[in-house]
Amino acid sequence: MFGRSLRWKVWATISLFAITILLVLGLVVSNLFENLYFRQQSDFLVRHGRHLASLIAAGPSDEKLATQVELAKDFLDAKVVVVNQAGLVRRCAGMMGMMPGMMVPPPLLDPIQQGRITVLRGSSPFFGGEGLLVAVPVVQDQVVTGAVFLYSPLSAMTETLDAMRQVTLYSIGITLLLATALAFLLSRGMSTPLMEMKNAAQEMARGNLEVRVPIRSADELGLLAQSLNYLSRILKRNREQEQRLEGMRREFVANVSHELRSPLQLLEGYTEAILDDVPKNEAARREYLEVILDETLRLKRLVNDLLDITQIDEGKMVLAVKPLSLADLAQRLERKLCPLAQEKGVSLQVDVPGTLPPIYGDEDRLEQVVFNLLDNALRHTPSGGQVTLAARSGNAGQIKLTVQDTGEGIPAGDLPYIWDRFYKVDKARTGRQGTGLGLAIVRRIVEAHRGQVFVESVLGKGSLFTILLPTGEPTEDKAGR
Ligand SMILES: Nc1ncnc2c1ncn2[C@@H]1O[C@H](COP(=O)(O)OP(=O)(O)O)[C@@H](O)[C@H]1O
Ligand SMILES: [Mg+2]
Repeated sequence: MFGRSLRWKVWATISLFAITILLVLGLVVSNLFENLYFRQQSDFLVRHGRHLASLIAAGPSDEKLATQVELAKDFLDAKVVVVNQAGLVRRCAGMMGMMPGMMVPPPLLDPIQQGRITVLRGSSPFFGGEGLLVAVPVVQDQVVTGAVFLYSPLSAMTETLDAMRQVTLYSIGITLLLATALAFLLSRGMSTPLMEMKNAAQEMARGNLEVRVPIRSADELGLLAQSLNYLSRILKRNREQEQRLEGMRREFVANVSHELRSPLQLLEGYTEAILDDVPKNEAARREYLEVILDETLRLKRLVNDLLDITQIDEGKMVLAVKPLSLADLAQRLERKLCPLAQEKGVSLQVDVPGTLPPIYGDEDRLEQVVFNLLDNALRHTPSGGQVTLAARSGNAGQIKLTVQDTGEGIPAGDLPYIWDRFYKVDKARTGRQGTGLGLAIVRRIVEAHRGQVFVESVLGKGSLFTILLPTGEPTEDKAGR
């Protein structure tokens, strides 16, 4: 479980990094401190060695020399040896078993002979064990007449060095603890939201689109959480839309099958009747043939609507745009729909002045739009009612086209949906008339002409459909969107 989790990895990486850096840093720092300490210590000894050497150079009495040497020993906490030119001890202090007249090992004297001050750090058997040895020549009239040896044993320094090392070690330890704790917090701060998001994503994969992750920060992790929430909202919406469309599609297939069955049954029945010579005279035969024609036209209408809607669905609608006169279009429609209006006992009024500016559009498509609206109005208006097609110049160079009826109206609750494909207000009653595709086609065609279409309706009073169309020549072809 540890090997795989991000929290562990982040934590281990940062901790390892901190350990390495701190160890290296600790070594360097303690080394630096040690060197600095030795340097200070040797400077200290050299300074006092020189002082002593200059005192000796002045040729003090034996008694005075002895006092100075004892003083130096106590003050410096060091072993002090004063030798003459030959390397024989003249005076010493703090040296067990050493007497004046003894010989200092020649290697120690060599640099002295050349008048140089020497500092040695290490082991010296003569002075006893590890330590710091400083030798200062005594110079009289530019001649080396002896030397002062000051020896500070390491044991005197270890206390300080140990204390220094301890401080360094403690600092490293505390820093390390802090770094590890911080790394732990950091890794947890990162891994907790990641775990939450992982779980949410798994939930979403299982189909639960209600999940939301808390947004804990404004950084990249917070943004990721936001994106995840956004994704789940979008997916949810898409799924709902899909379900709705799927439901409509199913209903549509059922409707289409139903729509197809009745005309096909009629066609079959009437054709068989003619073949069996059921109609006895020419007039009866004609009547039969008229029914056949009617039903064929209904089938054709249905198939055309289906083709239109698939074309629109696939974005393949192509508009043949050219300037056209709305008055001509209205006249043609009046002629076409006059029979239906008469049959229904509805008066059809057309009020489209010929002075209107031309509009640019696809004539057949726009005719289809207005036809659909008039057809709906006539079908939903009882006998004695009135349907009016009117057009006026609107503001901003638009043309306002209205189709108004005094019919049954549309319930307010249905109004937003009548533009949806396959939507019918009264499924039982209008089932035989249409497919619920008409207004969906209307809206898409109007929008492809850069126009808008609205509806107002009062139940029992009538409906008013309004189309706004631009009159100017289109700058870009929006067709087939
Ligand atoms: N002028 C109108 N008066 C009353 N209801 C209407 C009118 N126009 C459309 N509707 C309602 O809107 C629905 C959708 O219309 P439409 O898309 O043309 O489908 P269809 O005419 O094939 O039923 C119709 O079924 C009808 O219920
Ligand atoms: Mg219709």
